[in-house]
Amino acid sequence: MALLITFEGGEGTGKTTQVNLLVEHLQQAGHIVLPLREPGGTPIGDYLRAWLKSENEPLTPETELLLFAAARAELVRTVIKPALASGTHVLLDRYADSTTAYQGYGRRLPIAHVRSANAIASAGVVPDVTILLDAPLDITLGRTVGRQDDGGRRFEDESLAFHRRVKAGFLRLAKHSPERWTIVNAVEDIGLVHEAIWKRVQGLLTR
Ligand SMILES: Nc1ncnc2c1ncn2[C@@H]1O[C@H](COP(=O)(O)OP(=O)(O)OP(=O)(O)O)[C@@H](O)[C@H]1O
Ligand SMILES: [Mg+2]
Repeated sequence: MALLITFEGGEGTGKTTQVNLLVEHLQQAGHIVLPLREPGGTPIGDYLRAWLKSENEPLTPETELLLFAAARAELVRTVIKPALASGTHVLLDRYADSTTAYQGYGRRLPIAHVRSANAIASAGVVPDVTILLDAPLDITLGRTVGRQDDGGRRFEDESLAFHRRVKAGFLRLAKHSPERWTIVNAVEDIGLVHEAIWKRVQGLLTR
C-alpha cells in the first residue's frame, strides 16, 4: 500500500533536508516516490507559492488560511490522490497540520474555521505518518537567519511569541494523535535524524 508521509515543524527544523534524504533512501530500496511541497505541486499552487514568497504584502489571517487551503485542495485532488492510487509513496513537505499550527495557533484564527478549511482542502486524505521535527527555537531560527534562497520571509520574521505558539501547536497536535505522529529531535545531526525517520517508515513499509 502506498504511504502518505508528511513532514511538519517550524522554520529551519530540517523538513526539506529530511524529505530529500528519505526520497533517496526509499528509491534505493526500490520504491516509487513523489516528493511534494506545500504550497506547490500544481500550476495554481506554484503561482500562490511564488506570490506568498515574493510579496511582502501583509494578508489578513483569513485570506492566508484560504490561500493555503486553495493550493492544498488542488494538490490533493489532482496529484496526491492519483499518485497514491497508482502505488506511489507521497512525501509532503508540510500539509494540513501546518495550517492548524500557523493559521490556528500562530495567527489565532478560530479553530472551527481552520478545521473547516482543512476538511475542504484535504478531502479526507489523512497522512499514514507525520514526522514532527522539533527543536528549540534559538537553534532552528538561527538556521534561517538572513536566508533568502527561497524568497520572502512571511513567517520567518514573525515575533518569537508567534513561533512559540506554532511550536507548541505542533506538539499539541502530535500528543493528541500519537499513533499518527512521530516526534523527532531535530537538534541531532542530519544523519541521526534521518535514521530515526527511516526506522519509523520502515515499520510501516513492512506492515
Ligand atoms: N539536523 C540538522 N543539524 C544542523 N543543521 C541542519 C539540520 N537539518 C537541517 N540543517 C540545516 O538547516 C538549514 C535549514 O534546513 P531545511 O531547509 O531543511 O529546513 P526546513 O525545515 O525545510 O526550513 P523551512 O521551513 O524554512 O523550509 C539548512 O541549511 C540545513 O542544511
Ligand atoms: Mg523547507
